Amino acid sequence: MDKFVINGPAKLSGTVEVSKSKNSTLPIMASTLLFDKPVTLKNLPELRDIATMKKLLEKLGVKIEQRGSETIFDSSELTFCEATYEMVKTMRASVLVMGPLLTREKRAVVSLPGGCAIGARPIDIHLSGLEKLGAKVSMHGGYVKVTSDQLIGNKIVLPFPSVGATENLLMAAVYAKGLSAIENVAQEPEIDDLIDFLNSAGAKIERSRSTIMIEGVPPLSLKPIVHTPIGDRIEAATYLIAGLITNSSIKINGVRPIYLEAVIELLKGAGAKIDLDDNSITVHPSKLTPFNVETAPFPGFPTDVQAQLIALATKIQGSSFITEKIFENRFMHVPELQRMGAKIVLKGNLAVVEGGEKMVGAPVMCTDLRASAALVLAALICEGKSEIYRVYHIDRGYELIDQKLRQLGVDISRVNE
Ligand code: UD1
Repeated sequence: MDKFVINGPAKLSGTVEVSKSKNSTLPIMASTLLFDKPVTLKNLPELRDIATMKKLLEKLGVKIEQRGSETIFDSSELTFCEATYEMVKTMRASVLVMGPLLTREKRAVVSLPGGCAIGARPIDIHLSGLEKLGAKVSMHGGYVKVTSDQLIGNKIVLPFPSVGATENLLMAAVYAKGLSAIENVAQEPEIDDLIDFLNSAGAKIERSRSTIMIEGVPPLSLKPIVHTPIGDRIEAATYLIAGLITNSSIKINGVRPIYLEAVIELLKGAGAKIDLDDNSITVHPSKLTPFNVETAPFPGFPTDVQAQLIALATKIQGSSFITEKIFENRFMHVPELQRMGAKIVLKGNLAVVEGGEKMVGAPVMCTDLRASAALVLAALICEGKSEIYRVYHIDRGYELIDQKLRQLGVDISRVNE
C-alpha cells in the first residue's frame, strides 16, 4: 500500500493543470450504455474510479479501446445487466448504470449501496423516480431489480436535489416515451456536461434552473460523438486552497471559475487575493480572516471542498465555523488534523476551528477521498515530516497529485510499503 511522505512547511510557485472532472466523466461513461454506436471521450483522467467504471462497463459487454488520449466506447452489444456487490462496494457511482441499462435493456440489477465512511447514502430518490417513469422495483438478497418494457415520460419532483438521482433519471428518460419533467434537480456543472454530451448526440434535454425537461427520442437513435469532459472544479479548489494555506502565488489552469463561484466568493470575503480568467485562477499570498460557511447543493458551497476548507481554517487566526449539511458523517479528517496539532471542536454537523495553532508533521490515515486531500493540505503547513497512509483514497479522485505538488515545489514522495 502506498503512503505519501511530505516534509513541510512548503512554499509553492508555478502553474498546475487540473485534470478532467471525475464527477463529469463517471456519468458520461455510464451514459455510453445508451449508444449502439461508438463514443469517443478525450483526455479522461487516470484515476481509480475511472478504472473501476471501465471495468464495470466491460462486464456489461462494452468494448473499450484506448488510442492515445482518446478512449473509445463500443456498447453495440451488451451481454449483462448487473452491477455486482463487488463493483458497487468499490465505487458507489456504479449505480449510475441503472438508468441507462433500464431504458435500453428493459432491466437492470444493481447491488444496494450500504453505508460508507461519509454517511448512509441510500438510493431511494433514484428508485422512486424510476417508478414514476413506470419501472417496477423489487429487492432481493441485497440487490435491487428494476424492469420496464417501455418507460413512459412523467413529472418527477425530487425530495432533495441528489446529483446521482438527477443523472440516473435523466439518462433513463432519454428513451422514455413522451415528455418527462424532473423538478428540484441538482444543478452541478457536471450535470450540464452530461446534458451537453447527450444533446450533441441527438437527445432532447433542456435544463432551466431546477427543472429538466426531456423529450424521449427513439431507442438507440443517439449518434456517434466525440466529447471532452469539463475541468475538475474540486481539484481546482483543492489547489487554490494549497496556494492560500502556504501563502504562495500559483496559477491553476483548466477550470472555469464560474463553477467555483461559492468557493471563490467565500475566500475573497476572507481576504484572499484571487485573479480570474476564462479558464484559470491565480492566487496570491493573502492575509486571511476567519469565516462561517455551510455546505449546500450547487450553487452553494460544495461539500466536496469542506474538508480542504477545514484544513485552511487551521491556519487562520481566530474561530471559523463550518457546517456540513449534505452528508451526515463527513468529518473523518478532523481527528487526523487534531493529531497534527489542529484545534477543532465538533458539535453535531458543525466544526469550530480555532486557527493559528502550530501544526507539526505526524503519521495520519486517509479515510475518504476529500478527507485525504485535507490531510495533504495540512501537511504543507506542518513543521517536519508527515506520513499520509492509505493514499489509495486520494488516487480515486486526484490525478498525479504527488507529481503535480512536486512540480509546484512541495517535498513529497510516494513510498510503497
Ligand atoms: C455526488 C458526487 C459527490 C458529492 C455529492 C454531493 C459523483 C460521482 N459524486 O455524489 O462527490 O459529494 O454528489 O455533491 O458525482 N441521498 C438520499 N437518497 C438518494 C440519493 C441521495 O437520501 O436516493 C442523500 C445522500 O445520502 C446524501 C445527499 O443525498 O446525504 C447527497 O447525495 P447525492 O447528491 O446523491 O450525491 P452522489 O450523487 O452520491
